[in-house]
Amino acid sequence: MRIESIRIKNFRVFQDITIREIPPFCVIVGANGTGKSTLFQVFGFLKDCLTYNVGAAIQSRGGFNELISRGRETENMEIELQFRMEISKAERLVTYFLEITNQDGKPQVAREILRYKRGSAGSPYHFLDFSFGKGKAVVNEDDFNKTDEELTKEQQELDKADILAIKGLGQFQKFKAANAFRQLIENWYVSDFHINLARGSKDAAGYADHLSITGDNLQLVANRIFSEHNEIFNRVIDLMKMRVPGVSTIEPEPTKDGRLLLKFQDGSFKDPFIDKYVSDGTIKMFAYLLLLYDPSPHPLLCVEEPENQLYPRLLWELAEEFRAYANRGGQVFVSTHSPDFLNAVRLEEVFWLVKKSGFSKVMRAKEDSQLAAYMSEGDQMGYLWEHGFFEGADPR
Ligand SMILES: Nc1ncnc2c1ncn2[C@@H]1O[C@H](COP(=O)(O)OP(=O)(O)O)[C@@H](O)[C@H]1O
Ligand SMILES: [Mg+2]
Repeated sequence: MRIESIRIKNFRVFQDITIREIPPFCVIVGANGTGKSTLFQVFGFLKDCLTYNVGAAIQSRGGFNELISRGRETENMEIELQFRMEISKAERLVTYFLEITNQDGKPQVAREILRYKRGSAGSPYHFLDFSFGKGKAVVNEDDFNKTDEELTKEQQELDKADILAIKGLGQFQKFKAANAFRQLIENWYVSDFHINLARGSKDAAGYADHLSITGDNLQLVANRIFSEHNEIFNRVIDLMKMRVPGVSTIEPEPTKDGRLLLKFQDGSFKDPFIDKYVSDGTIKMFAYLLLLYDPSPHPLLCVEEPENQLYPRLLWELAEEFRAYANRGGQVFVSTHSPDFLNAVRLEEVFWLVKKSGFSKVMRAKEDSQLAAYMSEGDQMGYLWEHGFFEGADPR
């Protein structure tokens, strides 16, 4: 399952943008304040809308008037995502549309639609269509022997007008597309890695499925991969040895008081260094490798500026690891300011943001004939970006 397009209206700095044909590995560049973080926040916003409700998700972001694009306070906010998924043995392009309005200071769902085409012809069918807490949902969407007219529609009423219909219906397997979309959004992950939280011994109790957003369960994740997926752990150690001079092995170690720490062995010394005392870059590289070689990738991973603290020459491989992760089933969005990272990125994977009169637009490298021509002659994206070929990207 993969997000194919994103359309946003009136969400902060994105007054009106559409990104189409999004590749599995999508890299965004842009000056400060052009909306790189905001783009990732759209997924976080949807997740909060699902977990809580639309009102709470908006409230925790400063309220409707803070979230809606400046000057558009009387308009509605719209988010539309298209994604591909298999339903009854055919790949289908599913559209999820959400429109939020502010009525007497209360955010409400003006419209929520989930639609896709049932056959190769005809217009997309609305399997779920709600407005202000009322609407209909089709309960036998995968019965393709039935015509559109024969499908069973159930009228439903939600508890409140700021609850998403996919929140409730998405829990049921029979609502195929709603269920898949809900899972994609719920398992969305944005990395907000904090080296200082990743360091230090951690309570060994508990089970760490994935690296946490901040990386504060690094020791537990390392221990899990070490004991349950030893071949993956060894692969990570081999990569660490190649990339970080002095690292010869890394081992999770339980302490007597029920905690867990990481020991980094330097071949030159007898005693290992514990994670508290190794370099920032070492910790970060190790955390990224554990994240990217995770046996069960997140369906949607967002990472901001992965280049920080890492040696520039290592960024090429890191970019390739992100791409490999994306191709294993986890779509990846990365924002970057690093020409070294960008050099490893392909023409069709690069987008950039340009802000004009307060709002940002999305530009695409693939659609720029000059960039496409240079790339076909063997140039690299980072070099072209550094030399000002991304029109309007330079803040000055
Ligand atoms: N409601 C809004 N309407 C218009 N612009 C907004 C709104 N809220 C925030 N912004 C602007 O959006 C930008 C946020 O950018 P951000 O996503 O943090 O950028 P980046 O991550 O690229 O540095 C800031 O410049 C901020 O002023
Ligand atoms: Mg940012």
